[in-house]
Amino acid sequence: MIEGFFTKKEVESITRPAGKVGTCVTCGLHRTCESPQMKPFGNFKKKILNIGEAPGEAEDRTGKPWQGKVGKLLQKTYSSLGIDLFEDCVNINAVLCRPVDLKGTNRPPSNFEAECCRRSVLRTIEEYCPHKIIILGNTALYSIIGHRCMKDLGTISKWRGFTIPDLDFNAWLCPTFHPSYIERVSEQPDVQAIWKRDLKQAFALGALPKYNEPEIEIIEDLSVLKRIKGPVAIDYETTGLKPHAAGHRVVCAAVADSPDHTYAFLMPETKAERQPFLDLLANPKVGKMAHNMKFEDTWSVVRLRQPVVNWYWDSMQAAHILDNRPGITSLKFQTYVQLGVVDYASEISPYLHAVDNSDGNGLNRVLELLTVPGGTEKLLTYCALDTIYEYRLAMLQQSQILLPFYSWKHYQQ
Ligand code: URA
Repeated sequence: MIEGFFTKKEVESITRPAGKVGTCVTCGLHRTCESPQMKPFGNFKKKILNIGEAPGEAEDRTGKPWQGKVGKLLQKTYSSLGIDLFEDCVNINAVLCRPVDLKGTNRPPSNFEAECCRRSVLRTIEEYCPHKIIILGNTALYSIIGHRCMKDLGTISKWRGFTIPDLDFNAWLCPTFHPSYIERVSEQPDVQAIWKRDLKQAFALGALPKYNEPEIEIIEDLSVLKRIKGPVAIDYETTGLKPHAAGHRVVCAAVADSPDHTYAFLMPETKAERQPFLDLLANPKVGKMAHNMKFEDTWSVVRLRQPVVNWYWDSMQAAHILDNRPGITSLKFQTYVQLGVVDYASEISPYLHAVDNSDGNGLNRVLELLTVPGGTEKLLTYCALDTIYEYRLAMLQQSQILLPFYSWKHYQQ
């Protein structure tokens, strides 16, 4: 499990809910169904775990998932892609008992009911150690990702199609539509095609990528930056969003000179001490990457009085070029969906938001963090990890966008 600068306990408390969570007693669905707490079903030959929504009438009667009309559609679609739903996979639902309305007919489960079952779902994942987890629909999405620091989870439309190498589960997470949605939109062949393509892509996934622990060098003397020859990813932590208002400054910076190594430092007070970094910004031979480069660019000009020469890659713009759905280009979201890093920011983020930001010029609490024991190291580590993930994202994006005259290999020559 990747901890970033978090302790194991902190990561566990984020990713494995403990303490006050709902239980079967608070949910109560088990009292009204025929097959309470339905067991996982399937022979799991290809290590695929499917998570649906909740059992319906046919499933509740037989005690097995995917027995009704929607289940037949899923079975048929999997079969057309060379996967046997019950031989190759194990099948569970985000909610283990059948939810019914007052008339006794099927109803969608609530998020609360999914929360009550979450421990059980996570325990099943731990027991089976799947290689691929297919998340079918919104309730399954909420069950598996909703509790892990995603403030604005959104719906399955935002997540579908990503193949997430989730480091926490050590499995590929593949969200896509629920088959009941596909059945409802049967007159829309494009949605059907997207669903099938998502599943096909998921079934074709090979080994999970290896996560290399990055090397973070916290430095005071910036002269080591003079040695840098190749492209760099840069990131600043600043006192706010906009540099023009009075009292703002660049508090610290990080410079990754490879996908596995980065320097992080507090911005020195004097120009002479900053000079190696300013020279790096001015060096036309060193390409610069950032996530939202107009931020680093403006702060460099306004507060460091040094324009950046040779902007080379903006991983935020590239994320948008590759996929223009709203709400997916932030570095945190991209780091999770592309690299599988669940969270490295939640401890720092309260300090990054301005207390009063009605005009966008407010001061955040970064300087306060420097006065907290261990705060400086945490801030520098956070800034450093931003550059590592920017660099790794940029490399992935370049391999996908494949601009021949700007490709990675060409650039290095
Ligand atoms: N819908 C689900 O989400 N799961 C089932 O098992 C059946 C229908």
